[in-house]
Amino acid sequence: MEGATQMKQTGPVGLKAELGGIVVLDFGGQYTQLIARRIREQQVFSAVLPCTTPLEALKKLEPAGIILSGGPSSVYDKEAPKCDPGVLALDIPVLGICYGMQWIARELGGMVEPADRREYGRAHLNIEKCESHLFGNFPQSLKIWNSHGDNVRALPVGFHATGRTASAIAAAENQNSKIYMVQFHPEVNHTERGTEILRNFLFRVCKADPKWSGAAFIEETVEAIRQKVGTHRAICGLSGGVDSTVAAVLVHRAITARLTNIFVDTGLLRKNEFEHTLEMYRERLGLKVVGVDASEHFLDKLKGVVDPEQKRKIIGSEFIRVFAAEADKLQKTEAAGDIKFLVQGTLYPDIIESVSVKGPSATIKSHHNVGGLPKDMPFALIEPLRDLFKDEVRRIGKNLGLPQEILVKHPFPGPGLAVRLLGEITGKDLVTLREADSIVVEEIRLAGLYERVWQAFAVLLPVRSVGVMGDGRTYGLTIAVRVVQSDDAMTADWVRLPGEVLERISTRIVNEVPGVTRVVYDISSKPPSTIEWE
Ligand code: XMP
Repeated sequence: MEGATQMKQTGPVGLKAELGGIVVLDFGGQYTQLIARRIREQQVFSAVLPCTTPLEALKKLEPAGIILSGGPSSVYDKEAPKCDPGVLALDIPVLGICYGMQWIARELGGMVEPADRREYGRAHLNIEKCESHLFGNFPQSLKIWNSHGDNVRALPVGFHATGRTASAIAAAENQNSKIYMVQFHPEVNHTERGTEILRNFLFRVCKADPKWSGAAFIEETVEAIRQKVGTHRAICGLSGGVDSTVAAVLVHRAITARLTNIFVDTGLLRKNEFEHTLEMYRERLGLKVVGVDASEHFLDKLKGVVDPEQKRKIIGSEFIRVFAAEADKLQKTEAAGDIKFLVQGTLYPDIIESVSVKGPSATIKSHHNVGGLPKDMPFALIEPLRDLFKDEVRRIGKNLGLPQEILVKHPFPGPGLAVRLLGEITGKDLVTLREADSIVVEEIRLAGLYERVWQAFAVLLPVRSVGVMGDGRTYGLTIAVRVVQSDDAMTADWVRLPGEVLERISTRIVNEVPGVTRVVYDISSKPPSTIEWE
């Protein structure tokens, strides 16, 4: 059993490249999308469907295999989710994971009972000496990741146990009826040889064809968007980052000029970022973009505000106001009066309500994403990336031929420089911070490190310190330099930059940015620090 997720289901529409893939039927587990992603990594199409999907709809997708996911329930719960037992009689290979295993075992006449001891986290799997399609020639013992309460005590007729933990039957197979089950989570990194277990299911058992690729995803998605939008129009809010750009380019491929993008200059972007990105959108990507300079407006609204959460809230709500006003203007122009859709670059980790995926930062800082618009806007949503993870989006972007600079661009917070300029925000300080930040990024690039670190940036501190320049005493500003390495921003480590790079950054900032007389390097990791200073 695992924590539940609040997840809207999306699914394949049954286009050609989606046929012959693996359908993951969702019992509500927190790792369900991760299973689908692991399968896509093997170039086999996979989508998640609700466990209640009718058999007829399943069959239309001609799946090579079906996976029944984990879930937070016990099979004995009154409301325990079920799927049509017919999925076990389609002559299509089935793999039950965690709750999926318990559901199959019970459905086919095995015995499932609450465990004496709940198994959660790491455990050891002892592989039985028997023929196993899933475990092949694996060593006798594997480290696995568990998360369940119920245990399978007795297997249904025709099954043999292929693995056990100290307290339970942890894996079983019925090769004749092509039904397989594992109590643990092969999709989670902590499970040793988890990918091989999934590969064995995909290729040995299901004989799946590894034909799915980013190109197929693009073709599929573009076609689906074209059908969904029909003759109507769509708008999209661009942030300058890779997610919204990839989403916009996909929709642009589908409906070209019937997509209008809105890119707002909050005045809190990096040096030359607004102009440069706008030009890239228009000239290199051929997107139709309305550029809105709202920098004065944002600066005005932020006057006197020092509290970080307050800054985030103001920026979030002002962004919505500016965006809605532009959308309204577009609605009213004759040519575009038919806007029915709003495109968003939402990713899977943005929607999953799970601490393990989203990280504790969600409760520490309210991440007002510039893309996060209210649900009551009069548009239907198009979110072509909502099943994907960030690195998958980067790969799709590469397939779409997006410029490298956008694919490798460091993440940037929605509230922008407002959370890197500590204390009250003024136009003058923003100029200082932008100059210092551009030096940090330029030197990191010159050192060949830009694509090897997660983020590199400058922070302007609200303190002054004494210094000496020429013959005089100074009382100047302090810049903190932050360069971190991370896989997913949930944890981060400060980067041990070479002394020469630190020296160049420091010398250039003090010489080239008026008013700054001190540069410090941030040597804190997350946790306990966060990546951003506010
Ligand atoms: P923290 O500072 O929480 O940041 O360690 C983790 C990652 O999230 C980015 N970040 C934000 N992104 N809106 C965003 O869209 C925000 O308010 C926000 N705050 C932080 C940060 O740059 C890092 O990559």
